[in-house]
Amino acid sequence: MKLVPQPLERKHQEAFLRFTDANIGARYYTPEDFQKLFDLSCHHQRSLAYVLLDQDSGNIHGVRVTYPPPRWLQQETAPLFTELWNVPPESVAYFKSLFVDAKLQGQGWGPTLSQASLKDLAAMGCQAVVAHSWKESPNNSSLRYLEKIGFKAIGEHPLFWSEIDYDCTRCKKPPCQCTAVEMILYLAPIS
Ligand SMILES: CC(C)(COP(=O)(O)OP(=O)(O)OC[C@H]1O[C@@H](n2cnc3c(N)ncnc32)[C@H](O)[C@@H]1OP(=O)(O)O)[C@@H](O)C(=O)NCCC(=O)NCCS
Repeated sequence: MKLVPQPLERKHQEAFLRFTDANIGARYYTPEDFQKLFDLSCHHQRSLAYVLLDQDSGNIHGVRVTYPPPRWLQQETAPLFTELWNVPPESVAYFKSLFVDAKLQGQGWGPTLSQASLKDLAAMGCQAVVAHSWKESPNNSSLRYLEKIGFKAIGEHPLFWSEIDYDCTRCKKPPCQCTAVEMILYLAPIS
Protein backbone atom coordinates (compact mmCIF):
# COMPACT_ATOMS: atom_id res chain seq x y z
CA MET A 1 0.00 0.00 0.00
CA LYS A 2 1.33 3.45 -0.94
CA LEU A 3 -0.80 5.99 0.95
CA VAL A 4 -0.82 9.63 -0.16
CA PRO A 5 -3.09 12.53 0.86
CA GLN A 6 -4.55 14.11 -2.30
CA PRO A 7 -7.11 16.82 -3.05
CA LEU A 8 -10.52 15.29 -3.80
CA GLU A 9 -11.41 14.98 -7.51
CA ARG A 10 -14.62 14.00 -9.33
CA LYS A 11 -12.92 10.82 -10.56
CA HIS A 12 -12.67 9.62 -6.92
CA GLN A 13 -16.49 9.29 -6.63
CA GLU A 14 -16.72 5.49 -6.77
CA ALA A 15 -13.82 4.83 -4.36
CA PHE A 16 -15.03 7.65 -2.07
CA LEU A 17 -18.55 6.17 -1.77
CA ARG A 18 -17.19 2.64 -1.26
CA PHE A 19 -15.16 4.02 1.65
CA THR A 20 -17.95 6.14 3.22
CA ASP A 21 -20.53 3.30 2.94
CA ALA A 22 -18.16 0.98 4.81
CA ASN A 23 -16.81 3.44 7.37
CA ILE A 24 -19.50 6.07 8.05
CA GLY A 25 -22.51 3.89 7.29
CA ALA A 26 -24.41 2.61 4.26
CA ARG A 27 -26.09 5.44 2.29
CA TYR A 28 -24.69 8.24 4.48
CA TYR A 29 -23.43 9.79 1.24
CA THR A 30 -25.27 9.04 -2.02
CA PRO A 31 -23.89 9.73 -5.53
CA GLU A 32 -25.99 12.95 -5.55
CA ASP A 33 -24.47 13.96 -2.19
CA PHE A 34 -21.00 13.38 -3.64
CA GLN A 35 -21.67 15.80 -6.51
CA LYS A 36 -22.97 18.42 -4.07
CA LEU A 37 -20.16 17.99 -1.56
CA PHE A 38 -17.51 18.08 -4.29
CA ASP A 39 -18.97 21.34 -5.59
CA LEU A 40 -19.14 22.91 -2.10
CA SER A 41 -15.57 21.84 -1.34
CA CYS A 42 -14.16 23.83 -4.28
CA HIS A 43 -12.55 27.25 -4.24
CA HIS A 44 -11.33 28.60 -7.60
CA GLN A 45 -12.05 25.21 -9.25
CA ARG A 46 -9.91 23.23 -6.78
CA SER A 47 -11.23 21.10 -3.95
CA LEU A 48 -10.11 21.86 -0.39
CA ALA A 49 -11.27 18.37 0.64
CA TYR A 50 -8.62 15.63 0.85
CA VAL A 51 -8.59 11.86 0.51
CA LEU A 52 -6.06 9.30 1.70
CA LEU A 53 -5.43 7.41 -1.53
CA ASP A 54 -3.64 4.10 -1.98
CA GLN A 55 -1.73 4.76 -5.19
CA ASP A 56 -1.28 1.03 -5.81
CA SER A 57 -4.98 0.04 -5.77
CA GLY A 58 -6.82 3.37 -6.23
CA ASN A 59 -8.74 2.62 -3.01
CA ILE A 60 -9.50 5.40 -0.54
CA HIS A 61 -8.66 4.89 3.16
CA GLY A 62 -9.62 8.27 4.63
CA VAL A 63 -11.66 11.36 3.77
CA ARG A 64 -11.48 14.95 5.00
CA VAL A 65 -14.52 16.80 3.60
CA THR A 66 -13.96 20.56 3.93
CA TYR A 67 -16.15 23.44 2.74
CA PRO A 68 -14.49 26.84 2.24
CA PRO A 69 -16.64 29.93 2.99
CA PRO A 70 -19.20 31.21 2.18
CA ARG A 71 -21.46 29.04 -0.06
CA TRP A 72 -21.89 26.14 2.38
CA LEU A 73 -23.74 28.36 4.91
CA GLN A 74 -26.76 28.67 2.59
CA GLN A 75 -26.70 24.96 1.69
CA GLU A 76 -26.04 23.23 5.02
CA THR A 77 -29.19 22.33 6.93
CA ALA A 78 -27.41 21.26 10.14
CA PRO A 79 -28.07 23.42 13.26
CA LEU A 80 -25.26 25.87 13.99
CA PHE A 81 -24.43 28.14 16.96
CA THR A 82 -23.46 31.05 14.65
CA GLU A 83 -24.13 33.55 17.48
CA LEU A 84 -21.23 32.00 19.45
CA TRP A 85 -18.65 32.18 16.64
CA ASN A 86 -17.60 35.83 17.30
CA VAL A 87 -16.56 36.30 13.65
CA PRO A 88 -18.69 36.96 10.53
CA PRO A 89 -20.26 33.61 9.54
CA GLU A 90 -19.38 34.34 5.88
CA SER A 91 -15.67 34.06 6.81
CA VAL A 92 -16.01 30.64 8.44
CA ALA A 93 -15.24 27.26 6.81
CA TYR A 94 -16.86 23.92 7.67
CA PHE A 95 -15.14 20.64 8.47
CA LYS A 96 -18.00 18.44 7.26
CA SER A 97 -16.67 14.88 7.75
CA LEU A 98 -13.41 13.20 8.66
CA PHE A 99 -13.04 9.44 8.69
CA VAL A 100 -9.98 7.23 8.60
CA ASP A 101 -10.06 3.48 7.94
CA ALA A 102 -10.31 1.75 11.38
CA LYS A 103 -7.10 -0.19 10.66
CA LEU A 104 -5.19 3.07 10.12
CA GLN A 105 -6.59 5.13 13.01
CA GLY A 106 -4.28 6.45 15.71
CA GLN A 107 -1.40 6.91 13.24
CA GLY A 108 -1.88 10.63 12.60
CA TRP A 109 -3.56 10.38 9.16
CA GLY A 110 -6.63 12.35 10.34
CA PRO A 111 -4.53 15.35 11.48
CA THR A 112 -2.41 15.11 8.28
CA LEU A 113 -5.51 15.34 6.05
CA SER A 114 -6.93 18.17 8.19
CA GLN A 115 -3.67 20.17 8.17
CA ALA A 116 -3.68 20.05 4.36
CA SER A 117 -7.17 21.63 4.32
CA LEU A 118 -6.24 24.15 7.07
CA LYS A 119 -3.24 25.32 5.04
CA ASP A 120 -5.52 25.98 2.04
CA LEU A 121 -8.11 27.77 4.23
CA ALA A 122 -5.49 30.01 5.86
CA ALA A 123 -4.13 30.88 2.39
CA MET A 124 -7.58 32.06 1.23
CA GLY A 125 -7.99 34.31 4.32
CA CYS A 126 -10.60 32.24 6.12
CA GLN A 127 -11.02 33.38 9.77
CA ALA A 128 -12.23 30.22 11.50
CA VAL A 129 -13.37 26.62 10.96
CA VAL A 130 -16.39 24.95 12.55
CA ALA A 131 -16.76 21.19 13.05
CA HIS A 132 -19.37 18.86 14.52
CA SER A 133 -17.51 16.30 16.58
CA TRP A 134 -19.08 12.84 16.97
CA LYS A 135 -19.45 12.54 20.76
CA GLU A 136 -19.81 8.74 20.70
CA SER A 137 -16.87 8.09 18.33
CA PRO A 138 -14.82 4.97 19.20
CA ASN A 139 -12.02 5.75 21.71
CA ASN A 140 -13.32 9.37 21.81
CA SER A 141 -11.04 9.79 18.78
CA SER A 142 -13.13 12.59 17.23
CA LEU A 143 -12.93 15.02 20.17
CA ARG A 144 -9.36 14.06 20.96
CA TYR A 145 -8.15 14.68 17.43
CA LEU A 146 -10.01 18.03 17.15
CA GLU A 147 -8.72 19.27 20.53
CA LYS A 148 -5.21 18.20 19.57
CA ILE A 149 -5.29 20.57 16.58
CA GLY A 150 -6.72 23.44 18.66
CA PHE A 151 -10.53 23.24 18.31
CA LYS A 152 -12.64 24.36 21.32
CA ALA A 153 -16.16 23.06 22.14
CA ILE A 154 -18.98 25.66 22.08
CA GLY A 155 -22.14 23.53 22.52
CA GLU A 156 -23.94 20.25 21.90
CA HIS A 157 -26.61 19.13 19.40
CA PRO A 158 -28.43 15.95 20.55
CA LEU A 159 -29.75 13.63 17.78
CA PHE A 160 -27.69 15.60 15.26
CA TRP A 161 -27.72 12.91 12.53
CA SER A 162 -31.20 11.47 13.28
CA GLU A 163 -32.83 12.90 10.13
CA ILE A 164 -30.40 11.09 7.81
CA ASP A 165 -31.69 7.71 6.59
CA TYR A 166 -28.45 5.73 7.02
CA ASP A 167 -27.10 2.81 9.07
CA CYS A 168 -24.85 4.53 11.63
CA THR A 169 -21.97 2.15 12.51
CA ARG A 170 -22.81 2.60 16.22
CA CYS A 171 -26.66 2.71 16.22
CA LYS A 172 -26.84 0.05 13.41
CA LYS A 173 -30.17 1.31 12.01
CA PRO A 174 -31.98 4.66 11.64
CA PRO A 175 -32.68 6.93 13.41
CA CYS A 176 -29.14 7.66 14.64
CA GLN A 177 -29.13 8.64 18.33
CA CYS A 178 -25.66 10.21 18.40
CA THR A 179 -24.79 13.71 19.64
CA ALA A 180 -22.61 16.32 17.91
CA VAL A 181 -20.34 18.68 19.82
CA GLU A 182 -19.95 21.93 17.86
CA MET A 183 -16.31 23.06 17.90
CA ILE A 184 -14.43 26.04 16.49
CA LEU A 185 -10.82 26.77 15.54
CA TYR A 186 -9.72 30.37 14.89
CA LEU A 187 -7.17 30.76 12.08
CA ALA A 188 -6.57 34.47 12.79
CA PRO A 189 -6.72 36.45 16.09
CA ILE A 190 -10.26 37.75 16.80
CA SER A 191 -10.37 41.56 16.68
C1 LIG B 1 -11.31 10.87 14.41
C2 LIG B 1 -10.32 10.34 13.40
C3 LIG B 1 -10.65 10.88 12.03
C4 LIG B 1 -8.93 10.83 13.81
O1 LIG B 1 -7.97 10.41 12.88
P1 LIG B 1 -6.70 9.60 13.38
O2 LIG B 1 -5.81 9.44 12.20
O3 LIG B 1 -7.11 8.37 14.10
O4 LIG B 1 -6.08 10.70 14.39
P2 LIG B 1 -4.94 10.49 15.46
O5 LIG B 1 -3.97 9.45 14.96
O6 LIG B 1 -4.41 11.84 15.77
O7 LIG B 1 -5.73 9.93 16.71
C5 LIG B 1 -6.61 10.77 17.45
C6 LIG B 1 -6.75 10.26 18.86
O8 LIG B 1 -7.60 9.11 18.86
C7 LIG B 1 -6.88 7.98 19.40
N1 LIG B 1 -7.26 6.83 18.63
C8 LIG B 1 -7.58 6.78 17.33
N2 LIG B 1 -7.88 5.53 16.98
C9 LIG B 1 -7.70 4.77 18.09
C10 LIG B 1 -7.87 3.41 18.35
N3 LIG B 1 -8.26 2.55 17.40
N4 LIG B 1 -7.63 2.96 19.62
C11 LIG B 1 -7.25 3.81 20.59
N5 LIG B 1 -7.10 5.14 20.41
C12 LIG B 1 -7.33 5.60 19.16
C13 LIG B 1 -5.44 8.33 19.17
O9 LIG B 1 -4.60 7.63 20.07
C14 LIG B 1 -5.43 9.81 19.45
O10 LIG B 1 -5.49 10.11 20.80
P3 LIG B 1 -4.26 10.81 21.55
O11 LIG B 1 -4.00 12.07 20.80
O12 LIG B 1 -4.80 11.04 22.90
O13 LIG B 1 -3.15 9.83 21.44
C15 LIG B 1 -10.30 8.79 13.28
O14 LIG B 1 -9.83 8.22 14.50
C16 LIG B 1 -11.64 8.23 12.93
O15 LIG B 1 -11.94 8.05 11.76
N6 LIG B 1 -12.48 7.95 13.96
C17 LIG B 1 -13.81 7.46 13.75
C18 LIG B 1 -14.67 8.42 13.02
C19 LIG B 1 -14.81 9.75 13.70
O16 LIG B 1 -14.99 9.86 14.89
N7 LIG B 1 -14.76 10.81 12.86
C20 LIG B 1 -14.99 12.15 13.29
C21 LIG B 1 -16.46 12.40 13.14
S1 LIG B 1 -16.86 14.04 13.60
